[in-house]
Amino acid sequence: MADNRPIGVFDSGLGGLTVVKALQSLLPSESIMYLGDTARVPYGNKSKKLIESYSTEITAFLSGKGCKVIVVACNTASSQAMGVLQDAFSIPVIGVIEPGVSMAITTSKNGHIGVIGTVATIESNAYETALKNQNENVIVLNQPCPLFVPLVEEGWTTGDVPKLVADTYLKGMNADSVDTIILGCTHYPLLKEIIQSAANNGTTLIDSAEAVAMEVKRVLSKNDLIAENKSTGPLDCYVTDVPLRFEGLARQFLGSNIEHVSTVSIH
Ligand code: DGL
Repeated sequence: MADNRPIGVFDSGLGGLTVVKALQSLLPSESIMYLGDTARVPYGNKSKKLIESYSTEITAFLSGKGCKVIVVACNTASSQAMGVLQDAFSIPVIGVIEPGVSMAITTSKNGHIGVIGTVATIESNAYETALKNQNENVIVLNQPCPLFVPLVEEGWTTGDVPKLVADTYLKGMNADSVDTIILGCTHYPLLKEIIQSAANNGTTLIDSAEAVAMEVKRVLSKNDLIAENKSTGPLDCYVTDVPLRFEGLARQFLGSNIEHVSTVSIH
């Protein structure tokens, strides 16, 4: 039987729209309800306790709106709060870590895998733990890249400044012959070209947005939750604050304009 309830997707801000874009392309008839916690972004430098509490509030909001699954489209929230969310809610909660990890393991030829993300994501060790759980022989190189998020938010995704920053961050991975790098942050797919040009030749970048969309499709099929809308499913967008330059930023991450956006208070 078809299930036309929306897929709930949340992120600390607007970066999770990269995951919405991947979902819309893989599952076009699904309705999506997105919440960007724009009033409290960034999560990447906050404590585990606070990230857990923000993520729980948002998941309660989305499941209260009737979402059939929740996609934690934020690497920082996925690395810090999956345990509490999966314990507290009965609907499936899907994070971005495991899908990206599986793709990296099958992609890497020499078993040297790099992970880049916010400080909170890297310090949580969530990626390294998940990678080692799938293959204990992989060598994992972790690198926090805190300057990447503000560069993307400022629209500095090409040119000398992001290139110099990327060269500096990737030096250690290149020296260690990493052949696969997980883009462990919602914002990094927008820096793909710069990161690719800073990495050793032949390095594969893993975009967790695409990997998580495939995992959502798998979970929906397995649980008989696939929608059967005849037309393209709508996107309902909620934010906790409408930031300056909202439209441009949203377009940057989603690749198209957002038609409807509502401001909500969730705490
Ligand atoms: N969405 C966050 C992530 O994917 C990046 C922005 C933030 O620090 O909140 O890690």
